[in-house]
Amino acid sequence: MHTLLLQSLFPLLLITSFLLINVELSLCQDNEQYTNCSEAINCGGIGGISYPFWGVNRANYCGLAGFEVKCQDNVPMINISSINYRILKTDPTAPSVTVARQDYWGTLCPPTYVNTSINFSLFNYPSGLTNMTFYYACNTSIAIQGLGDNYTSEVCSTNNSDITVWSFTTTPQVDPVAARACTTGVIVPVFTTAVQALESNQKTIQEAVDEGFELGLEIDNVECNSCVESGGKCGVNATGGFICFCLDQAYAAVCKATAPGAQGLVASTVFYYILDSYLGVCH
Ligand SMILES: *[C@@H]1O[C@H](CO)[C@@H](O)[C@H](O)[C@H]1NC(C)=O
Ligand SMILES: *[C@@H]1O[C@H](CO)[C@@H](O)[C@H](O)[C@H]1NC(C)=O
Ligand SMILES: *[C@@H]1O[C@H](CO)[C@@H](O)[C@H](O)[C@H]1NC(C)=O
Ligand SMILES: *[C@@H]1O[C@H](CO)[C@@H](O)[C@H](O)[C@H]1NC(C)=O
Ligand SMILES: *[C@@H]1O[C@H](CO)[C@@H](O)[C@H](O)[C@H]1NC(C)=O
Ligand SMILES: *[C@@H]1O[C@H](CO)[C@@H](O)[C@H](O)[C@H]1NC(C)=O
Ligand SMILES: *[C@@H]1O[C@H](CO)[C@@H](O)[C@H](O)[C@H]1NC(C)=O
Ligand SMILES: *[C@@H]1O[C@H](CO)[C@@H](O)[C@H](O)[C@H]1NC(C)=O
Ligand SMILES: *[C@@H]1O[C@H](CO)[C@@H](O)[C@H](O)[C@H]1NC(C)=O
Repeated sequence: MHTLLLQSLFPLLLITSFLLINVELSLCQDNEQYTNCSEAINCGGIGGISYPFWGVNRANYCGLAGFEVKCQDNVPMINISSINYRILKTDPTAPSVTVARQDYWGTLCPPTYVNTSINFSLFNYPSGLTNMTFYYACNTSIAIQGLGDNYTSEVCSTNNSDITVWSFTTTPQVDPVAARACTTGVIVPVFTTAVQALESNQKTIQEAVDEGFELGLEIDNVECNSCVESGGKCGVNATGGFICFCLDQAYAAVCKATAPGAQGLVASTVFYYILDSYLGVCH
């Protein structure tokens, strides 16, 4: 009896599952981008790194060119104008990122001397920062008038030779490089609050440098916020323009799931989405 019922239902079951798999596959393609961009980057205990950042578990369409993050030895890193920076935290509402120079991490003696420089079409310096200046290979027997005593001196052991580094929290009135006392100067921004703590001996220079500095992001946050508020995930299309990935499909600006007539689609999308989770087909 049961076998007979099953036999008569079999063709129907076959057709139904065939249709389901087809719908499944077509929905999976749209959902894949939504699912992929739903995940933030989490590296070495620093999480919440999302749009415009991409990399690691986020495909390149989840963020903007120039905001690629790599997870190197459990440290989230971003390469800005050929310098590697550690990401210490992100603030999606500002939006901003706090970074520290990898070559100055735990040391004032980097292997090469490179100025901090950012790509101003991607980042900006917010207020509350102070430029520290480090001068290298300084000749301590040269006395410069007007240098004051607002600097500290330290020895770096690089390339098997000891050199002296002078650290300033304010740009000195006399440039030690111009005065031929030092060979190179490097600018590294730090938080002004860290400089104040440094000047009152509550912090070391290294601690101030390792706190990093904030960079504002030159992105249209309104665009992304509107997408997120409509239930979407921000990303970029094939030509690098903004796109909003939604459960049903991708839209130019916001998810149109609540548009008249789309209700049925939403219901079925949610149904298949739940089905997906059960079947584990595309997640
Ligand atoms: C997103 O895409 C990237 C690159 O294609 C892949 O490595 C990653 O596993 C995907 N993540 C998820 C959550 O699907
Ligand atoms: C940063 O990226 C540039 C290419 O965009 C590359 O030449 C450079 O080596 C990278 N710098 C570091 C420190 O990885
Ligand atoms: C160390 O030597 C290398 C190769 O000669 C050179 O490129 C580099 O600038 C030197 N580093 C310092 C800190 O002088
Ligand atoms: C860094 O910038 C300062 C000020 O522009 C300049 O004097 C110095 O030579 C630069 N240092 C390097 C290593 O390019
Ligand atoms: C700055 O970023 C923009 C946008 O990604 C890019 O087109 C440009 O080449 C970058 N400039 C430099 C000097 O890296
Ligand atoms: C620090 O120096 C850079 C140039 O190297 C400059 O663009 C920036 O405005 C300076 N920041 C402050 C707070 O003076
Ligand atoms: C340091 O400066 C003094 C005085 O100008 C000079 O005699 C000495 O040779 C310099 N030392 C180095 C290592 O350049
Ligand atoms: C030394 O630093 C203090 C505090 O920042 C500042 O008020 C003073 O003008 C500086 N002196 C010189 C000679 O730069
Ligand atoms: C990419 O997005 C931009 C901005 O929304 C749009 O103008 C452009 O037509 C889109 N390109 C493709 C290939 O979808």
